[in-house]
Amino acid sequence: MMTLPQKELISAERLQERVAELAREISDDLEGIDLLTVVCVLKGAFIFTADLVRHLTLPCRIEFIRASSYGEGRTSSGKVKLEHHETIELEGKHVLLVEDILDTGRTLSRIVAELEQQRPASMRVCALLDKPSRRSVLFEANYTGFTIPDHFVVGYGLDADERYRELPFIAIENR
Ligand code: XMP
Ligand code: MG
Repeated sequence: MMTLPQKELISAERLQERVAELAREISDDLEGIDLLTVVCVLKGAFIFTADLVRHLTLPCRIEFIRASSYGEGRTSSGKVKLEHHETIELEGKHVLLVEDILDTGRTLSRIVAELEQQRPASMRVCALLDKPSRRSVLFEANYTGFTIPDHFVVGYGLDADERYRELPFIAIENR
């Protein structure tokens, strides 16, 4: 029998339910603000962000930054390259940073440090997935979709060498 390249970990239905719940929680916490600046971290968070914002009941502005680790491989090198973050106006704004996965924590702590230089009014972080067992720097998200064990996962925006982003579910890569 042929083995599939991936095995389902979180179904499309569970993702949709949880994303709607997260949006409700965020909308409740931020109720009354005049504008929320949602910052999507490309590429991995593009699908999550698109689904999340459609459930928010807050006035939003949506911006994109690009973060990538230098070098190849499946673990972040620690040297995070950021692009497009300087052109986004964040001073005095309420910011929600949306990321696909929190792993060692290096990427998000670097992004938060960078964005905070612009003195936003508030900054919250929402990560769809969290692998707390892999953390190497102290970092916690304000909102987490699912805590998962230490597997390399793909789908719903996440890739393995640019493949599988289009899957509607989260899968463990079979290698
Ligand atoms: P750090 O270690 O900086 O990692 O918290 C966050 C970034 O690493 C990538 N990453 C993954 N990408 N499946 C992926 O497709 C995974 O299981 C995985 N673990 C970490 C991801 O780009 C994230 O932004
Ligand atoms: Mg990413």
